[in-house]
Parts: sequence; structure tokens; C-alpha cells
Amino acid sequence: MEPGMAENWIYKNPNEPVEARTKDLLSRMTVKEKIGQMTQIDRIVATPTAVCDHFIGSILSGGGSIPLEKVLSSEWADMVDGYQKAALETRLGIPMIYGIDAVHGNNNVYGATIFPHNIGLGATRDADLAHRIGVATALEVRASGIPYDFAPCVAVAGDPRWGRTYESYSEDVEIVRNMTSIVSGLQGHPPQGHPNGYPFVAGRTKVVACAKHFVGDGGTDKGINEGNTIMPYEDLKKIHMAPYLDCISRGVCTVMASYSSWNGDKMHSHRFLQTEVLKEKLGFKGFVISDWEALERLSDPYGSNYRASISSAVNAGIDMIMVPFKYEAFIADLTSLVESGEVPMARVDDAVERILRVKFVAGLFEYPMADRSLLETVGCKLHRELAREAVRKSLVLLKNAKDPKKPFLPLDRNAKKILVAGTHADDLGYQCGGWTISWVGSSGRTTIGTTILDAIKEAVGDETEVVFEQNPSPDTFTGQDFSYAIVAVGEPPYVESGGDDPNLIISFNGSEIISSVADRVPTLAILISGRPLVIEPSLLEKVDALVAAWLPGSEGGGITDVIFGDHEFHGRLPITWFRSVDQLPMRYGENSYDPLFPLGFGLTSKNVKLSN
Ligand code: GLC
Repeated sequence: MEPGMAENWIYKNPNEPVEARTKDLLSRMTVKEKIGQMTQIDRIVATPTAVCDHFIGSILSGGGSIPLEKVLSSEWADMVDGYQKAALETRLGIPMIYGIDAVHGNNNVYGATIFPHNIGLGATRDADLAHRIGVATALEVRASGIPYDFAPCVAVAGDPRWGRTYESYSEDVEIVRNMTSIVSGLQGHPPQGHPNGYPFVAGRTKVVACAKHFVGDGGTDKGINEGNTIMPYEDLKKIHMAPYLDCISRGVCTVMASYSSWNGDKMHSHRFLQTEVLKEKLGFKGFVISDWEALERLSDPYGSNYRASISSAVNAGIDMIMVPFKYEAFIADLTSLVESGEVPMARVDDAVERILRVKFVAGLFEYPMADRSLLETVGCKLHRELAREAVRKSLVLLKNAKDPKKPFLPLDRNAKKILVAGTHADDLGYQCGGWTISWVGSSGRTTIGTTILDAIKEAVGDETEVVFEQNPSPDTFTGQDFSYAIVAVGEPPYVESGGDDPNLIISFNGSEIISSVADRVPTLAILISGRPLVIEPSLLEKVDALVAAWLPGSEGGGITDVIFGDHEFHGRLPITWFRSVDQLPMRYGENSYDPLFPLGFGLTSKNVKLSN
């Protein structure tokens, strides 16, 4: 081929610097190709033809958007590769980037390791553990052919009534900052001297990460999801923006804008914060992605003036739009906005440059297809042991005896007969919570894992009889001589606004189940929840021991490792445990701070308080 022909083009040469490749490719692109790169669509509407015809730059699986029930990673890789082949057939052969919410393991995929949700990881305060979970998650995501993970959520949860509290590591910004180590696990560590704010991905076993949701998602009034965060700029910076500086210094490739507002102004059209602060002041050089149908939420009624919403979002600094369905309308409107000059070409070029930069950094031009050698990592023993370690370290012991001199835990694994009860004792779906196989999550054996009951049966001695009653009646106890009872109750799975809850009562009459058992038998109560829940003083008085287990995920064995004494308690509250919802919002350090258990509280099995 003549010099200057395709194979000599700079952007095709992996030995050229990323910035040279990015600029070269950008200079060759048409407006249509550029707008296509800014367009992300869900797999539900994605076809190879659509990818080809519209130069679609990115495809995602929204929560639960799975090809088929119980589809394995290899079939996910087939699907992603199918779209990629179409993208590579376009004129310039720009690879598309496929994104997914792997927020506690590759949770959409059947058989993947399901780690504790972030609130439980916050209880561990273990940055190294978070890093190792990032490494494992990246492998299992890449095994499905996917190079982009919409994680971590670095929200600072200000009010447990918020439905996404469990996606936050803590109410304490310093704990959240500490746990951003997961970004380096997901993407790899930038080398010494790597420019601050420049995206970084260390090869095919790592993924593009996404710090979300910028900014103030966890600080909304009354914890209303997608609501309004009301505070001075100094507090927004100090509390909600601080973790982004850590993510940026770790080379995070993308940031997702928040649905929420700051002092009444929507984040998706907030040019000062998305461009002047995030990109110019903080030096973020990756790309900003919108949230799902976030542009429709910019107008009232929903989606009413879509063209105007596109203009305000793109001009505010949103680079890639998670449309995710009506992409033809999006492309047509944005094209019209560019032609009219309402969206300057320079803004489009900045957005596309950022997107291309991330794709080059992620190695997508050199390795666009799935690496099938990673398939063996999905749900592997090593990862499940890591998840089990995380569960152990996340458990917070809130009470361990009616008489502190007679600790109730650890339990006797060789007791003659024990009762296991509660709605959450034998429900894998409940212990995984939201964002598991489906968007909302659900009850039952939704994936591969170990329930609390499974783990108890494995842990106790051969002579120990285990009786399981989900909802015990008085008859359960007739003629029975139980040595003790383990009662697991809590919340059903939920996501986003579906989880907003002003009452925070233990679901399915969980308090009554605990009470009726504890009236008859020495009882350990285990709470499976995404946040603190109401514990009446009378209930607390009745139980012999109380453990907050958060949303532990697939490895229930981590719970029995600790309650039977193979490991000591380690976890400390990442969030204040209120007495009553009437106290909310209640934050550590405020003078009206009167919690049932304060931020940082946690006991060892010897009733020794763990230090902060
Ligand atoms: C959701 C969430 C966001 C997620 C995105 C894609 O609405 O707000 O956290 O990454 O959509 O599923």
C-alpha cells in the first residue's frame, strides 16, 4: 500500500505515544463518527448493524441486562466479541468499549464471585483487601470480555434512609478515601511519575474503572435518591469531592455524573463542577459519562425537551452519554446542535479525545477481543476465599453477652442441638442484596454460593443436630432442648430509589422472629442489611449476641468462621447506628450525636472494644 495509507497511520501504531495516536485519529474522524463515539447504548437495543451504521462507541449492560438466564462468562464473551467485530469493521476500525456494573464482583454473571457490598468493606477499613478485591473483580469482568466497570461508587453516605447507602463505603470521608485503593486493583497502579489525572490501565487483566457519582450523591436531603445536596461549596469539597482526588491520583479512567443536584442545580448540567472543577482544576483527563437516561431527568416532564437537555449536558462537560435506548434521537439531536453551533465542535472534539485516550490506554486497539484464558478465574476458589476473608473482616459485633463477664460468642460447634431461624438464614439472594444477577436482586439460589445455613451445617460437629425453621412457631420449641439459636433477618434486596426508606424497620417481622426465639433460647441475632436498622432497646436486651453482617455476598462461610471462633471479630461500624429514625440525619461529631452505637464501634468476642 502507498505511504500514508492506513497501515502507516499514526493511530494504528502501538509504538506511538497515546496523545499522538489520539490526535491523529481525531483528525481523521467525521462529525458522525465523533458523535457515535459519544453514544453508549444498552445491549437490549444494540445490534451489529446499529454499531456499524452509527459508529456506536460504547455498549453497556444496565443492571440485570443479561443475554440469557444463567449465562456463563464464555457466552458473555461471545456476545461482547460479536459487537466488537462490528465496530472493527467500521471505516476507521475504532473498537467499542463494553461497560457493566461489577460493583461487588462481576455480579451480573451467574457463578461469579459475589463480594460484600461496599458498606461491609467499609467496616473492614482494609485498603489492601479492597485492592485485592479490585484485582479479582477485574479478572472476572475481563473473563466475560468486558473492559469497563462502572465502579467504585465513592459516595459518602450521609443518611441511612438513602437507598444506595450499601453502595457507599462509609459516612466517614476518610474511610471512603482509604477504600479508593480498589481503583488501583481494578486498573493497576500507575508507574512513578505518571501524570496526575491521566487515565491508566495496566493491560488485559485490568479494566477501565469509573468513580461515581460526581458529586454529592450520598449527601442529599433526607437521603432522597437523586435528590438535592444542600451545603456550601467548602463542605461539598471536603466531604463529597475528596474521594475523587484520590481516584484521580490513582489514574481513574472515567467519572460518572450524579443524578442528584447541588443547591438545586442538577449535576448533569453543572458546567462549573463537571468542567471547571473536575477537568480544569482537578486535572481529570479521562472521560465523564452520564448516568442512565440522566438527560431525560434534566427536564420536567421527564424527557420533554431532550434536545435542550443534550445541549446543557454536553456543554456542561458530559463526554459520553449513557442514552441507553433512543440513540437515533440522541444522535440526530446532537448532530443538529453541532450544526447550529449550540454545541461547539471544540466541545465534541474534547469529549471524543477523552474517550479515544481511554480506549488507547485500555489497550483496546491492540486487544479488542475477549481473552478466553481468563475464564477459569470466574468464581474460582482463590476469589471465593478472598470474598470469605472480606466477609469475616466485615462483621461488626454489637453485643456479646447479657453478662459481659460471660461472653456468648464464640458458639460451641459441638452443641447437642441448635436452632437456625430467620428469613435470611438460608437465602443466597438476600445475603447478596441488590445488583446481583438482576438489577434489584431477588430471593433464593440466584447464583452459586453458600448460605448461612449451608455454612453452619458445614461448621458444626457431626453429632450436632441443626434444626432450621425460617419462621419458628411455639410448636418449634415443644419438647426441644436447643443449646442456642442463630437467627438471621434483615432487608430484602433493593436498588437506588427503590431502597429509599424513611422507617428502616427489619423486614418480614424480623424483630418479632428474634424476640420470639430469644424469649425461649439463648440467641445470636445476625442482621443482613445494607445499612443500620431500628433495634428496639427491649430487643437488644433480649438477645445474647448481635452481629451486623451487612450484605456479605456469596460466601456465607465467612460468618461461621467468626461466630464459631476460628477467626476474631475485626469489623467496626462504617456508619452511625441510630436509635430512632427521628434522629436522622445524625453525623459523627455533631453535638446532637446520640447513637445506639457510634461510628467506629465494634467488639471482639472477649467484649473488648476495637480501637478506632
Ligand atoms: C444506574 C446507576 C449507576 C449505574 C448505571 C448503569 O441508574 O445510577 O450507578 O452505573 O445506571 O447501570
